[in-house]
Amino acid sequence: MNTSKKSQGIQLLLDLIQNYLDDNYVKQYLEDNYVKHYLMEIIRYKNKIKFILNKTLRSMKYDMKQPLFQDSLLFYAVYVFFWEKKNLKKIKKELLLLSLNREQIQYFQRFYDRLSYFNWEIALKGKNEKEQLSIQKAIPTFFINKLLPVMSLDDIKLNSEKMDNQARKGYFTIRINSEIDLDEFENKFKYFNLVRDEIIPKTIHIPLKHKSKIITTHFYQENKIIIQDKASIASVFLMDPQPNEKICDLCAAPGMKTRLIAQLSNNKAKIVALDFNWDRLKKIRPMMQKTSSKNYHLVHGDGLNSPIRETKNAFFDKILLDAPCTGSGTFSTHPELKWRQNQKFLNQNVFLQRDLIEKAINMLKPGGILLYSTCSFYPEEGELQIIKVLDRFEVEKLPSWISPSYKINNSSFRGAGRFFPTIHKTNGFFIAKLKKKNSN
Ligand SMILES: C[S@@+](CC[C@H](N)C(=O)[O-])C[C@H]1O[C@@H](n2cnc3c(N)ncnc32)[C@H](O)[C@@H]1O
Repeated sequence: MNTSKKSQGIQLLLDLIQNYLDDNYVKQYLEDNYVKHYLMEIIRYKNKIKFILNKTLRSMKYDMKQPLFQDSLLFYAVYVFFWEKKNLKKIKKELLLLSLNREQIQYFQRFYDRLSYFNWEIALKGKNEKEQLSIQKAIPTFFINKLLPVMSLDDIKLNSEKMDNQARKGYFTIRINSEIDLDEFENKFKYFNLVRDEIIPKTIHIPLKHKSKIITTHFYQENKIIIQDKASIASVFLMDPQPNEKICDLCAAPGMKTRLIAQLSNNKAKIVALDFNWDRLKKIRPMMQKTSSKNYHLVHGDGLNSPIRETKNAFFDKILLDAPCTGSGTFSTHPELKWRQNQKFLNQNVFLQRDLIEKAINMLKPGGILLYSTCSFYPEEGELQIIKVLDRFEVEKLPSWISPSYKINNSSFRGAGRFFPTIHKTNGFFIAKLKKKNSN
């Protein structure tokens, strides 16, 4: 990178960090990989960085007056000091690119020196085990508290760590279109250490370091391969879409699963894909063009007050309800969601899910299948939703490669299961497959 490009890069990064700190997060504009990497990392570890920063600033307040520069520079400095062990000489080169004045540089040098005196044992004194875990591993306390009834503290820690590490050095998963021969594809990319999924056909895991190369291939650019989490692929795979079935994808956008429903039914299922959000919904059409499926209708509307006419109630053989949720299982790719977790956000989602489930039941034929899923760890968005409607369904046992659901009242649900980052190398994900009783 030449100097002016570097200078633009670091300035853009600091502006974006500052925007995030000021609550104006604009992730969709991130195209520069260097900027994206640092921004995501700093957001991922926000509470830990803030803790170190506050302790350090407090220790400086008697001997240095803080000159005016944005907090973002201090957040960046803490990150590169602790996570990358970058020394002052190296970071000074970047500071010079920012045209700081002498007073600011002096202050920064002092601050950077002080970071080396930071001591975890002293800093965490008086904090209980949960608080220490939250700060040291950057896990939201709300997340810890919600999961403690169903998971050990150690499992919470391991799953969180796995999500954080997965973003840097894990695997990503692709699903390849039916027209591509798997052996040929594997042969073409044999130097990439591809791992074929043991269960789900046409699904391959690839080390993350090759992602930038994969997305420049014509396979990706022409939508012949899709990057998708294995748990998401599994939910459609379990629904088992068949030719001529009438299938509703009730929260469909941006259509990753709609596309898979079409593919798995050899483009012969009759699909209605509905979503509330037009900007996301309109992305489905170009994606579906690649499947050569013409058997689908996009419906822009509210699933709770569906524009699908009442006379068409009890119309569908299968409904996929991949419900809106807190995203607490997706911190790997959405670290910004870590710091949005709270009771109000959870309640909003729980109420919406409950009503959408009710609507889905009404639209399902007797004997029809409801596949309900959320990318969340919370039992409130999984087991505790399903328990409310269980008497209207027969449950079908899920395959043993899916982990059992959490135990509620000492037993897990036969028709429900979970994916965990630690076990399946996926997002945290809940799945339930339920068959509507004929008497309903
Ligand atoms: C988890 S995402 C769905 C992802 C999608 N199934 C896929 O695999 O690409 C949840 C979706 O629900 C939609 N949604 C939220 N509330 C809705 C409502 N009341 N009616 C219909 N869609 C809604 C959101 O716009 C969002 O696109």
